[in-house]
Amino acid sequence: MKKLEELTLIKPAPTIGDSSWFRHDRFGMFIHWGLYALPARHEWVKSREYIPTEVYDKYFRHFDPDLYDPKLWADAASYAGMKYFVITTKHHEGFCLWDSAYTDYKSTNTPYGKDILTPMVEAFRDRGLRTGFYHSIIDWHHPEYTVDRIHPMRSSEEYIAQDAKRDLNKYVDYLHNQTEELLKRYDPVDVIWFDFSVSANDRFPGKGRKEWRSEELIAKIRAINPKILIDDRLQIDQDIKTPEQRMQNEWVKVNGVPVVWEGCHTFSGSWGYHRDEETWKSVDQLLMMLIDSVSLGGNLLLNVGPTGRGEFDERAYDRLRGIGDWMKRHSRSIYGCTQAPLEFECPRDCRFTYNPEKKRLYLHMYTWPFGGVQLRGEVAEHVEYAQILSDASEVLYDYNDENKTLNLKLPVKKPLNAQIPVVELFLK
Ligand code: GLC
Repeated sequence: MKKLEELTLIKPAPTIGDSSWFRHDRFGMFIHWGLYALPARHEWVKSREYIPTEVYDKYFRHFDPDLYDPKLWADAASYAGMKYFVITTKHHEGFCLWDSAYTDYKSTNTPYGKDILTPMVEAFRDRGLRTGFYHSIIDWHHPEYTVDRIHPMRSSEEYIAQDAKRDLNKYVDYLHNQTEELLKRYDPVDVIWFDFSVSANDRFPGKGRKEWRSEELIAKIRAINPKILIDDRLQIDQDIKTPEQRMQNEWVKVNGVPVVWEGCHTFSGSWGYHRDEETWKSVDQLLMMLIDSVSLGGNLLLNVGPTGRGEFDERAYDRLRGIGDWMKRHSRSIYGCTQAPLEFECPRDCRFTYNPEKKRLYLHMYTWPFGGVQLRGEVAEHVEYAQILSDASEVLYDYNDENKTLNLKLPVKKPLNAQIPVVELFLK
């Protein structure tokens, strides 16, 4: 038998910022909130429906989330077991949730009249969650922002003609200034999550690292907070790779090297509040997404789109509660866990996660195996004790030294309080 330390444990490439907490905590809440909560038909509505700024302005004039209470949001996130949150300080529409010195297009100038970001950061920090800011690099409101293939005015010849007079660099100064303003005002911000760069098409040039002056922006960010984690969408890979709306089959790699990664996903088919969208994922499905991510060494960032009144809707609460009910007894298989040693063969319909410090292996069963499950090979040799995680009830087993198989004896009935049951294996 090999020693545990001799087995192949994947470790991601080191990061510039401090990713130790991030790799431990594994689970965060994404929040997409802006004026698009009012049309309630996707956060891209301005682009999708080619809405000119003068028309889109009706949402600015009617934005009044009277039921907004970020303590309720933070409670829901904390109950679900989320350890950090990432809020859209500004999405592509350009509307700012904080009282920026660089624009009038902000929540304080709507009928609501107040800064939204400050009480949110306070509420989440009070409950021990770390702070992340999603910040849109692109901006469909700023007057100096030129037209590209996804801009709402891409089919207005009149608007496009004005591009000659627009100076994108002035917009980029604004982007840099606002980023610094946010990072200083809310210091320490743990994650800055930029989104995104635009490719060219036949008609319009793209916008990317050169236009954004990404190197310069990154240097400014690191000067304010050397520990901060930066994502990959400034077109320069930094600390976190962010695959979106698709599950992975293996640990995410860059040039063949495993890296720190976080998958971001929605509860349903939209990031912003979408009243009529019905493709809501079930609690079980969401839990499997969390487990799958950790089983491949990644994080899950799960998105909520609050309503124009300032609430999470019931469908989101329902999922968050369901996740929290499971996390209450199973978070040990998530926090501090990563992919199991590659030598460990995982039984059918199951997923392993592994806590290398505690030397515990977690066997998640996506279908209840009825009576027993068999571990074979290397993993079978290492088991020292086994229990059902939700109630710490012993799982008896037979070990066959000749075949190197270990049969875990499970009850016929799936354990209570465990939609996805987990066997905790203490390894030697
Ligand atoms: C996509 C969407 C955008 C969303 C982001 C989150 O880029 O277009 O609206 O904010 O994903 O990752």
